[in-house]
Amino acid sequence: MELFFLCGLTLFTLFVFFSLFSIFSYACKTNASQPNLPPGKTGLPYIGESLEFLSTGRKGHPEKFIYDRMAKFSSQVFRTSILGEATAVFCGAAGNKFLFSNENKLVTAWWPNSVNKVFPSSTQTSSKEEAKKMRKLLPNFLKPEALQRYVGMMDTIAQRHFESGWEGQQEVSVFPLAKNYTFWVASKVFLSVEDPKHVAKLGDPFNVLASGIISIPIDLPGTPFNRAIKASNLIRKELTAIIKQRKIDLAEKKASPTQDILSHMLLTSDENGRYMNELDIADKILGLLIGGHDTASAAITFIVKYLAELPEIYQKVQSEQMEIAKSKAPGELLNWDDIQKMKYSWNVACEVLRLAPPLQGAFREALNEFIYAGFNIPKGWKLYWSANSTHRNPECFPEPEKFDPSRFEGNGPAPYTFVPFGGGPRMCPGKEYARLEILVFMHNIVKRFNWEKLLPDENIIVDPMPMPAKGLPVRLLPQTTA
Ligand code: HEM
Repeated sequence: MELFFLCGLTLFTLFVFFSLFSIFSYACKTNASQPNLPPGKTGLPYIGESLEFLSTGRKGHPEKFIYDRMAKFSSQVFRTSILGEATAVFCGAAGNKFLFSNENKLVTAWWPNSVNKVFPSSTQTSSKEEAKKMRKLLPNFLKPEALQRYVGMMDTIAQRHFESGWEGQQEVSVFPLAKNYTFWVASKVFLSVEDPKHVAKLGDPFNVLASGIISIPIDLPGTPFNRAIKASNLIRKELTAIIKQRKIDLAEKKASPTQDILSHMLLTSDENGRYMNELDIADKILGLLIGGHDTASAAITFIVKYLAELPEIYQKVQSEQMEIAKSKAPGELLNWDDIQKMKYSWNVACEVLRLAPPLQGAFREALNEFIYAGFNIPKGWKLYWSANSTHRNPECFPEPEKFDPSRFEGNGPAPYTFVPFGGGPRMCPGKEYARLEILVFMHNIVKRFNWEKLLPDENIIVDPMPMPAKGLPVRLLPQTTA
């Protein structure tokens, strides 16, 4: 009995100790006693306002978290606590501009712990400085000049995708198909992998990884986080095997230096003439696959959704795309010039990205203490920019709820207001690639089908990306030619 009592007392003491320690370290982190912090509230220790932040998203209105606090505290910057971190949310075009233009001066990129643990290799395989230099190389592989040659490749995959997944079907679920399309395109353009079986070999563990990457970082058997780490190791192993084989094939001239992004990466050196090692390349490709997968498929899903809801917009997209289709010889693939003609379609895609941005925003960390809008921002605080703070702001976009692609005509929206891809040095390196794969998809879908939603009031969940709760089931209808 005594032993039982002693154990109980020890456990109780430990519990009190750790609770006090957590509250103390949380209070230190939030610097709640510091003067002149941005207005706002930080909620309970650890949990902070994470539940409100996540639940507004799950109810389909992530912007509500931002706008409620902008109205209550400040339209420039407010304080909160999310994911266990003291956070200042920077709002409006001025907030975006500040964060985007102070990268590596006052702020630096920051990802939640779960992401860092699934992607440890950039710090394992190279020093911080090397990782920085290598990151600078990334945009080289994805700039428009480099991507031009891949348009036809994307078109081939799109055609095969529609033949195997859509044609002959009366009803389809769009979101899983969009994921299948973007992954197939990525496997081909990055790695020259196009055989559906090989694509699935990469794709299956990849889906496990994607669903566990932003999860509670508990690394115990069976948790989504643990499964994500295992899946990322499996994909890295598979990628490393592909990279090794490619090196041999390049040396033996069995592979071409320009056939895909992998060849390009293997043959590009930094300014000191150094090449990326295999692990770095595997890591970069994994990063690109992750960065591009759910984002682009969410964008495509919402384009299909809005086109179903807005027949007059569908008609205009279709007539633009049919003009291009009619100008092609039978069997001729889309090319770079065709993409440049898809202006209206891209304006529609941009309006979709404004109303349903795949990424709601991103974090930074304060490198040093600084003052913003008259408030102290302590060193180490996490800073968050939110696409919705401008995308749904009537000062930036009059009648923000209205779907109006003409907003993107001429000079388009004011600087730092339309930010689905972020901005500054960390702006999404896959922006141009995404534009191409989205437009190639739009061309191929409107050429074949018209469609209507099977669930007119399907809920939208944002967790962390927006998606229709049931995957957007649609009925495919014979195409009505423009
Ligand atoms: C519609 C599609 C896409 C959207 C809306 C999107 C949006 C974004 C945003 C907002 C960021 C964060 C920027 C920041 O930290 O401020 C980002 C980062 C990133 N994106 Fe995209 N993205 C898309 C497609 C792609 C594609 C297709 C790729 C790859 C081919 C890609 C690769 C990446 C990578 C690697 C990063 C991390 C960059 C870094 O840490 O510096 N993204 N993206």
